[in-house]
Amino acid sequence: KRPAGAPDKSLAREVKKVGVVGAGLMAGQLALLFVRRLEVPVVITDIDQERIDRGVAYIHGEIDKLAAKGRLSPDAVNKLKALVTGSLDKAAFADADFVIEAVFEEMSVKQQVFAELEQHVSAEAILATNTSSLSITEMASKLQHPERVVGFHFFNPVAVLPLLEVVRGERTDDAALATAFKVGKQLKKSSVLVKDAPAFVVNRLLTRFMGEVIATVDEGTPFEVADNALEPLGLPMTPMVLLQLVGPAVAQHVNETMHAAYPDRFGISANMQRFVEARKTAVWTTDDSGKQVVDPEVAALWE
Ligand code: 3HC
Repeated sequence: KRPAGAPDKSLAREVKKVGVVGAGLMAGQLALLFVRRLEVPVVITDIDQERIDRGVAYIHGEIDKLAAKGRLSPDAVNKLKALVTGSLDKAAFADADFVIEAVFEEMSVKQQVFAELEQHVSAEAILATNTSSLSITEMASKLQHPERVVGFHFFNPVAVLPLLEVVRGERTDDAALATAFKVGKQLKKSSVLVKDAPAFVVNRLLTRFMGEVIATVDEGTPFEVADNALEPLGLPMTPMVLLQLVGPAVAQHVNETMHAAYPDRFGISANMQRFVEARKTAVWTTDDSGKQVVDPEVAALWE
């Protein structure tokens, strides 16, 4: 069944080569998913060779882990590894039909990445963004071909969570959108079309949810109480463990987008800002006896 709002699938283009911009954890997870499901060449790039090498090594390592779990044959391992390459030179993207970016969550950085890509790819190549919260319309606004830009937003862990938010910008055309839905299906994700609104749907809700937990702690409730309060509802993980999975800095960027759009509904916690600036990555840690405890250094940031 065609997802609600998806254009006629006959408009979709075939994707024979994928580019991934960024070689961080999210980008690595994306590259792995694309190579596994599409079995086409996937080239990754980043700002320096060291990051690219680390990204390729991560993907190869994940392929080995899948093989160790018996999910890939030795032949498939070799085939998939050979399909993943890294290149500092974006000319390697020249024949890519679908390029997805997962770089730093800042509009000017993403616009710059797309502008540079446009110098290399064909006029029909899809430029997809895994942005968590930024406007697809604005990201596309300075391009020669804004009609090829789509939001393609995955959820952590990418290999496990089935949801994919597909976002249509004001100028996105039906062929780009149809291709995005086709690729979503090839990736075995459940695609939903969402409005190009700040943080789309899922992160808008999650940000409010995590923000209220933080606000409760700001007001003096211990993390131990606030973070576990919803345990009886059977959530897969507590809000602060989810924050760790998403990455506090990413979560804070999304929160800033929401605050700018809806200042009356999304506050900025000064304690949370200090937590991100201190480069802390987790609220919870394990003590000497193996018990889960709130990291005393984190608790101190809230005092
Ligand atoms: N990376 C990759 N795979 C992971 C993983 C990780 N970090 N954590 C768990 N997995 C895999 C495991 O390997 C296992 O796979 P297998 O069955 O093939 O062996 C599978 O997930 C289930 O893992 P477990 O049995 O160990 O653990 P759980 O049953 O507790 O599930 C979970 C783990 C899937 C992470 C679950 O806790 C969950 O769904 N949590 C909520 C995650 C969530 O809400 N994510 C959305 C965040 S928002 C976001 O990403 C948007 C961004 O823009 C900010």
